[in-house]
Amino acid sequence: MPMCGIVGYAGTRPALGIVLDGLRRLEYRGYDSAGVAIVDGAELVACKRAGKLTNLEKAVADLAAGGADLAAGAVDRAGGGDRAGGGDRAGGGLATGTTGIGHTRWATHGGPTDRNAHPHRSADGRVAVIHNGIIENFAALQAELEAAGVELASETDSECAAHLLAAELAALEEGAPDQAIAVSGVPSSGAALAEAMRRVCRRLAGAFTLLAVDTAAPGVVVGARRDSPLVVGRGEGENYLASDVAAFIAHTREAVELGQDQVVTITADRIQVTDFAGNPTTGREYHVDWDASAAEKGGYDYFMLKEIAEQPRAVADTLRGRFTEAGGIALDEVRLTGQDLRNVDKIFIVACGTAYHSGLVAKYAIEHWTRIPCEVELASEFRYRDPVLDRSTLVVAISQSGETMDTLMALRHAREQKARVLAICNTNGSTIPRESDAVLYTHAGPEIAVASTKAFLTQLVACYLVGLHLAQVRGVKFADEVAAVVAQLEAMPGKVAAVLETMEPVRALGRELAAARSVLFVGRHVGYPVALEGALKLKELAYMHAEGFAAGELKHGPIALIEEGTPVVCVVPSPAGRGVLHDKLGSNLQEVRARGARTIVIAEEGDDAVVPYADHLVRVPATPTLLAPLLTAVPLQVLACEIAVARGHDVDQPRNLAKSVTVE
Ligand code: G6P
Repeated sequence: MPMCGIVGYAGTRPALGIVLDGLRRLEYRGYDSAGVAIVDGAELVACKRAGKLTNLEKAVADLAAGGADLAAGAVDRAGGGDRAGGGDRAGGGLATGTTGIGHTRWATHGGPTDRNAHPHRSADGRVAVIHNGIIENFAALQAELEAAGVELASETDSECAAHLLAAELAALEEGAPDQAIAVSGVPSSGAALAEAMRRVCRRLAGAFTLLAVDTAAPGVVVGARRDSPLVVGRGEGENYLASDVAAFIAHTREAVELGQDQVVTITADRIQVTDFAGNPTTGREYHVDWDASAAEKGGYDYFMLKEIAEQPRAVADTLRGRFTEAGGIALDEVRLTGQDLRNVDKIFIVACGTAYHSGLVAKYAIEHWTRIPCEVELASEFRYRDPVLDRSTLVVAISQSGETMDTLMALRHAREQKARVLAICNTNGSTIPRESDAVLYTHAGPEIAVASTKAFLTQLVACYLVGLHLAQVRGVKFADEVAAVVAQLEAMPGKVAAVLETMEPVRALGRELAAARSVLFVGRHVGYPVALEGALKLKELAYMHAEGFAAGELKHGPIALIEEGTPVVCVVPSPAGRGVLHDKLGSNLQEVRARGARTIVIAEEGDDAVVPYADHLVRVPATPTLLAPLLTAVPLQVLACEIAVARGHDVDQPRNLAKSVTVE
């Protein structure tokens, strides 16, 4: 199915614990059901459960403790035949098998039930498959399978891949002895499974990552990808497959990036890659520069709290190494010439969610510094709007995950129109940077909590760097002017840390506001996107009505929402920047307060003009206007997180959401 987390393991250690541990690290990708399939000799045991991973872990523990839960349905027997493996051995095989796959799901086709959870098994039980993506021609494939007498056990688009694989394997075996040998005890090379996978992939339309195991090829996991993430982890005497490196980082930091339309076979000591036609190819090997502790909670109750606290470092890491001795700014991968950049006459920023808000901030900086017109658009709107693009348009695609389907489709659309694409991304080897002309990586480290925090701050930093780079290449800023902004940027990690040190009153306020019905956020200039981001954080975490407005727009409608006691968070611009902005926001503050609002004012240290209008005052260090969002966004993250916790929500995994949305 859909947008999910996927893990595969082939080695000599028991696979179950490794696969479950990998799933735990990928749970942010989807968490409405989960499942595993373990191969032990010629036996395949699958277990899957609706709900969070803990439900699966409990079912698996019961099962491994002696198969007692078999009757209760913890093992996948759906669709006829004993797909569980045999009786008492089922639990044993689960605990001892050294080959396995696992899946954590975010439902699209078919609700989050036990039956629709992955893995899906072929009717004969020999193959188990997990899938991330959407098989767009599944209806036709299902009809074909049903006509051939296959009984489908779920409502998913994914299940058809299991039956198709089994059919291809059967067809291959008619002429090939390889699989028959395996059944008699000698492990097969997995060649037949890989070939069957290639044949199936050639028939699938849509986006997919597939992993499959086969009882006739114990010790082998075969994976395939098109438009969905899959990365290989190279271990010693064991290998991994996963949606992202977080799943195997505790075991190895050596990774292999797979290209589009490739099939990979892993065993304990072999990684073999081909294209869908069967031609051998190789992936790009790289070293992951995070360590396992980066993907752990590190003593915090929630990943989100840890990620908020990591922001000074994330900002510093994203700035590190960017400035050349000659005073220039270095991007990571630039397949664009200086002339290409000088030719740019229009910029579009496309992104979704929080990344879109970083783009809205970027517009202010980029237009101010480069004087190039810059539009910011939601990727999902941009893609289907017929925007005017040509080879002198630069499209900046911002994405933490690098896998967001809306953003990917927008960038493909842009490239078809000959526009140049620059990606700002946090995930090395992901699809969006791979398909772009240039890349600037943010170095936030793994962001696990669904609501984006440290990635947002690093996206802002990356946008500033892009603006400065363009200004420099095009000669619209002198080197000393760029150097002055660079010095301001370099002071930001310390200032973010200073903001974090003063958050206790914000937390107390969050607990007070937990019962509010609705919270409004207002700002002007770069404070306007910060207001939008503050409202988004509150919606996604606390499930509360929240909206962000341009403060000047309040009087044109939204002010009617204000009742006695309505909390209104005001992001006040620096009085040292454009004084007129500051004064205008001051008037807006008075207007809402006169109508009964309870004002929560985020203002610069030393800005005393706002004091009379603030029911609660949150101070941030003085900072140049354009860079202020790096500071003013932080109290809003803390506020939303605290309100959500006070309301009893799991802030890392808010309902209905997923971290990486790989469907349109
Ligand atoms: C999802 C997440 C958001 C995120 C958005 C864009 O909706 O829940 O937090 O901002 O995707 O993700 P990206 O990985 O492209 O930055």
